[in-house]
Amino acid sequence: MASLGHEVVGIDVDEHRIAELAAGRPPFFEPGFEEILQASLASGLLRFSTDFADAADARVHFLAVGTPQIAGSNAADLRYVNSATEALLPHLAPGSLVAGKSTVPVGTAARLDAMVTVAQPEAQLAWNPEFLREGFAVADTLTPDRFVYGVRSGDDGITATAMLDEVYAGAIEAGTPRLVTDFATAELVKVSANAFLATKISFINAMSEIAEATGADVTALADAIGHDTRIGRRFLNAGVGFGGGCLPKDIRAFQARADELGVGESLAFLADVDATNLRQRERVVRLTTTAVGGDLTGARIAILGLAFKPDSDDVRDSPALDVARRLRAAGATVVATDPEAIENSRRLNPDLEYVADARTAITGSDAVILLTEWSEYRQLDPVDLVGLPAAAVLIDGRNAVEPATWRDAGWSYVGMGRS
Ligand code: UGA
Repeated sequence: MASLGHEVVGIDVDEHRIAELAAGRPPFFEPGFEEILQASLASGLLRFSTDFADAADARVHFLAVGTPQIAGSNAADLRYVNSATEALLPHLAPGSLVAGKSTVPVGTAARLDAMVTVAQPEAQLAWNPEFLREGFAVADTLTPDRFVYGVRSGDDGITATAMLDEVYAGAIEAGTPRLVTDFATAELVKVSANAFLATKISFINAMSEIAEATGADVTALADAIGHDTRIGRRFLNAGVGFGGGCLPKDIRAFQARADELGVGESLAFLADVDATNLRQRERVVRLTTTAVGGDLTGARIAILGLAFKPDSDDVRDSPALDVARRLRAAGATVVATDPEAIENSRRLNPDLEYVADARTAITGSDAVILLTEWSEYRQLDPVDLVGLPAAAVLIDGRNAVEPATWRDAGWSYVGMGRS
């Protein structure tokens, strides 16, 4: 927002995080983010604070706190959304707008809007869901593929729409599609988009299981069905499945909300999407067990990649870290590496062995598993590596490399549903 020319104050209750941001240090790895953070601080348009009173002068308040899964339940934890809203209410000026970005169960915006109206009758609320992808956060924020504004019904929504159009003026002028809806539709756009993407990934992983049983090749299958523009090739990469802070918890919270609304049957298929996804992690363990001769006890397994996806240090619900834990629980010695996610992994799993690079991890291993398709792992030269492991076995948990290249170099290659 600051890089677009707006004057911005970022508020959080986490003092350490605010101090780091104010010093130009991002709290996570995201390509391009550090540069834009530092440039925005230097421009004088961006500052950080832990004091909600600093929000009082703002015309637009973006509410962008997390909605994680509640432990022991499928539902989303709304405590941060509620507390951030409550802390903001006393500082709302007449004519200001609260724009919700958090991913919330349908019905939340209407509830928060009622709170805003009581606190400041001349303020408004809009729901403006966020579709950015980790790893592409800067580009997706500056040039999103669409805007969705959920606004109050009737004339009231006109002001909110005009204010958001002003915030996003450059992208709107450049022709970015902008849809104005009611609150419920805007909330549902977000979760249904993520549910669709999760379903697409589990669909191709189900095809990958069928391919494994039949000797077919799921990558060729994805290429072929992907040429049908009604289907599309993107998000048809079979492998160890989806993780992260969004897709897994969003499909669960969506089911929990549908149950509350009495329409749980409509989303019953998402339980299968979730189960198919989680099954891929056990499948990698099974393929690894077979590859090392049937017993993981004492086997030395190299894991390439810990983040839930490349270009991120995020290990929330990471399939890679989960596979590492499962292998260790089965008696293997796990030696893991990742370009950015080692520190975050170590915090969650101090018992695993971490090394700085792929060559060190591979050295002496009985099998190598590629679990996050960082470009540096895709580009590994199998000829160059062949002397390092105890046994040259690659389990490609992301179908990320060319099987023939590795086999020609003397490796035993095992993909996920690749003939
Ligand atoms: C996802 C959505 O893509 C964003 O549009 C959304 O804004 C975001 O959640 C959110 O709700 O905040 P993100 O979690 O960054 O973004 O990651 P994705 O790119 O969707 O990937 C999710 C997982 O699916 C990763 O673990 C990735 O490895 C896996 N994946 C993706 C596959 O296994 N196969 C594919 O073909 C694509």
